[in-house]
Order: sequence, then structure tokens, then C-alpha cells
Amino acid sequence: EKGTYPHFMLKEIDEQPFVMRKIINEYQNENNELKLDADIRSAMQKTDRVYIIAAGTSYHAGLVGKSFIEKIANIPVEVHVASEFSYNMPLLSDNPLFVFISQSGETADSRGVLVKIKEMGHPALTMTNVPGSTLSREADYTLNLYAGPEIAVASTKAYTAQIAVLAILAVDTAQAKGLELEFDPMQELAIAANAMEILTDQKDEIEGLARDYLPTTRNAFFIGRSADYNVCVEGALKLKEISYIQAEGFAGGELKHGTIALIEDGTPVIALATQANVNYSIRGNVQEVVARGANAMVISMKGLEQDEDAFVLPHVHELLTPLVSVVPMQLLAYYAALHRGCDVDKPRNLAKSVTVE
Ligand code: M6R
Repeated sequence: EKGTYPHFMLKEIDEQPFVMRKIINEYQNENNELKLDADIRSAMQKTDRVYIIAAGTSYHAGLVGKSFIEKIANIPVEVHVASEFSYNMPLLSDNPLFVFISQSGETADSRGVLVKIKEMGHPALTMTNVPGSTLSREADYTLNLYAGPEIAVASTKAYTAQIAVLAILAVDTAQAKGLELEFDPMQELAIAANAMEILTDQKDEIEGLARDYLPTTRNAFFIGRSADYNVCVEGALKLKEISYIQAEGFAGGELKHGTIALIEDGTPVIALATQANVNYSIRGNVQEVVARGANAMVISMKGLEQDEDAFVLPHVHELLTPLVSVVPMQLLAYYAALHRGCDVDKPRNLAKSVTVE
């Protein structure tokens, strides 16, 4: 039920802080220790390489998950688009563990890979919002996303839930391996949940940005580096699927290798600047596009902000920034689509779960 909300998408964006808290509760015991299935823990300890398989927004969550599993749990990770993996399988490591990320658990492209790798005898874990789904039943292990039903075609709360559960999986593995963590991950997740709540209260501001930057444009670019780049590809997907604005997410460093040729007078460029180690470089990219006429909107983070920034996010741990930086991206897409009179919850040509390959 939408309740008082005009669209499921807006409701689901708003639910994100609560989903974060639900995940924190579901994955901890009364002593605040992580409680993951012992079999999942041992599968993570045994593997020498994790292969994340997913499509669309879930693939984008996988990109964020790769950095968690590599940086926190010290296991190499590859992230693959399911449809590509099927006919272009990479050389596998000796002990691969396949992690399927799927909100619906019904995506045919991902299932195609699952069937193949099960035939090869490899273990599989499915991370899904629907525990009884096909991908969940056919995999060896399941991690529930606890996001609650996601109705809008554009995925929002499932994406942030996937990121949170991937963080928990990485932390649990690190603990099982006896690795030292320099921060309290569950506390940082709780801080991120609070930050998300602050952002969902700033809708008017973000609606204003959508009006200022995206009213009649044909295209829009998202640029970022490192973790911000991962969110830029998701921000672009959100915008294109519901507002039909041609949008692309680019790595800041790639601009000069071709993309900058697309910048014209008034081209909207949304730049994310939440990472201290690349702040200087992404600011340089913003100057480059502004010099060519772009209408640049910088979304930065407290501590890294500059006077000209359009929006400043509350500060969260640098690994968890995607949880908060994606919220204005989702809202920008929502309002851009709304202002254009698009069918926000049911965009043209799209289905909620894609059950054909
Ligand atoms: O149910 P899944 O997570 O497997 O779905 C994957 C994609 O089809 C899905 O994320 C799609 O890209 C969304 N419409 C994005 O908002």
C-alpha cells in the first residue's frame, strides 16, 4: 500500500533508514554480535575468490560490495553482469564462491549463470529480498535483504539493503578470519541510517535541484571517482529508466579520454565528491567541464565541502558513503521524472522482474 505517498518509489526511498535499522537488528544477536549462518561463514573462509553475479541496480550494488569484501575481508572479488558471464566465462580460481545479488530472486540472466555453475559443482550464495524465490531455492545459501516488498520498478531500498548486507558479510568474514577492523562497522551502519533519514527530510531542496538542473535537458552526466563512481552509474540508471533522460555515469579520470567531447553549453553534470583521497582530482574534473560550459552540480560530504557545492551530505564512514550519496540520486531521478509527467512507478518498456534471458 502506498498510504499517503503519491508513488511507491517515494515511499520506498523514505523507508531506507528503517530498512538499515532492520538489517542491523536481524543480523545481530542480543550481545551485538553478528549472527550469520555458520555455513555461509565457512564458505567465505574457504573461498579464494568471490564472483558476484547480478544485473542492473543489483550489479551496481555488487560493485560497492567488491570494495567491502576486498578491503574488509581481504578476499579478491570479481563482479560480473549476469548476461555477459553466461557466454564469456572468465578463468575461475581454484575455490570460487558465487554470490548472486537479486532483489526479486527471479532474474533469468542470473539464474542462467546459477544453473551453469551448479553443474560445474561450485557453491552459490543468493542475496535476495525474496527468500523463497528461484535463485534462493537453487543456491546453497541465502542472505535475506529484509527490505520489505519493493513495488516501484526503479530499485531503491533493495540497493541500499544489498550494500548493507554485503558490508555485514564482509565484516563477518573478517571477524571469522581474525582480521582487525579499525572501525565499529555496525555503529557506522547506524550512523549511515541516521544520515539517510536526514536526507529523506531534505526532499524540497533536492526537488529544487532537479528543477534547476534537469528541467528540459536531453542528457545528463554523472562523474565520480572510486566509491563515488560506483554510485554515479547507479544514479545514471535511475535517471534514465524513469525520466528517459539519456544519462551516463563516468569515472572522473576517463573524461579526458573521450567523454568530455560531449560537454556542451548547459549540459548538466552531477559530480559526487565524498572521498577525501580523490577530492582534489574530482574538483579538477568539475573545473574542466565547467570551462566547457557544463552546468555542474557538486554533491559533496561534510568535511570535504566547498562554497559552490549544490548539496552537502552528512558525514559517514568513507566505505559507506554509497548508502547516503545514492539518496539524492534517487530523489533527483524521482523529481525529474515527476516534472516531466512520466509514470514514475511503471516506466515504459520495463518490468519489475526480468524473467526472460
Ligand atoms: O530483481 P533483480 O535485483 O535481479 O533485478 C535486476 C534488475 O533487473 C533491476 O535492478 C533493474 O535494473 C531495476 N529496474 C533498476 O532500478
